[in-house]
Amino acid sequence: MTTKEKLLTLFEKNKGVYFSGEEIADKLSVSRTAVWKAVNSLRKEGYKIHAAQNKGYCLAADTDILSVQGIQKYLESSCSQIKLTVLPAAASTNALLREKAAAGAPEGCVLIPGSQTEGRGRTGRRFYSPPDTGLYMSLLLRPFRCPAQKARKYTVMAAVAACKAIESLSDRKPLIKWVNDIYMDGKKVSGILTEASVALEDGFLDYVILGIGINVYPPENGFPEELKNIAGAVFSEAMGDGKNRLAAAFLNCFMALCQSLEDSSYIQEYRERSFLIGREILVLLPEGTKKASALDVDGECRLIVRYKDGTVAALDSGEVRVQERKHLHTPTE
Ligand code: BTN
Repeated sequence: MTTKEKLLTLFEKNKGVYFSGEEIADKLSVSRTAVWKAVNSLRKEGYKIHAAQNKGYCLAADTDILSVQGIQKYLESSCSQIKLTVLPAAASTNALLREKAAAGAPEGCVLIPGSQTEGRGRTGRRFYSPPDTGLYMSLLLRPFRCPAQKARKYTVMAAVAACKAIESLSDRKPLIKWVNDIYMDGKKVSGILTEASVALEDGFLDYVILGIGINVYPPENGFPEELKNIAGAVFSEAMGDGKNRLAAAFLNCFMALCQSLEDSSYIQEYRERSFLIGREILVLLPEGTKKASALDVDGECRLIVRYKDGTVAALDSGEVRVQERKHLHTPTE
């Protein structure tokens, strides 16, 4: 570890606490000049470090910069396999992690960039990934003898984990729009893109890349025109350590769900947070759009719908839209 990394570890674990230059030098076993240089280089990266005579240096409690040290201090035992890498920026962490996975990277690798220039969304769309206000993360999983068609459960678990993580830090209840979008107050605050590689000889998953993007704060200059009416953010204003805490809360929860694979209670949780169940929806099919009622999410995480002609279908994947905000079986509404 470099002196700067060691200093950041000390500061992140003791936000708001002053340490004299001498104390830091002792703790890190480096010279006071090295401490001073490390302080300056952290400041250049945007860290707010107070300096006071007779007190020394301290990292401001409201600092909110993503870092390995900043996330690690909140991780729980479910994340013992997690190996974090925080990058200043990336084109797309899903794309980058795919390269690493193909080159043999182990399960638990996590890439978190400050921003993405080509953040990928579902169905070939882009995920808007500006600096400072979002959390973008890709996680590599290597499930053991898992049939490819079971990959969807990771998206479902991630959606539940994202909701629980957000809820643990805010007093708002996020809802899930099947299969991978998280909504708060009618606006999308997060999306999940799960990509997988399948071994052709046995049909088992070789690896899964779980990518999640969360709009933690509103972007500095607002959302671009095309997203203005549909995108929202988890917090409306700065929250001390919000991004590091949210990243860790998501990983804690997601990894805990992955480790209790036999326990399918996450599906019930998913249902309870469903934005769609009980609503009239539009199903966008290759042959056209069909009106339907969203009935349920089954044990395989498929959306069960009833079309207007009475046929019931289990949707594996695809695009659906809410038709109206009226619940089924509540004619008085
Ligand atoms: C969607 O809303 O359609 C899915 C968005 C997924 C975005 C995340 S951000 C981290 C990871 N890297 C990517 O390029 N995409 C995912």
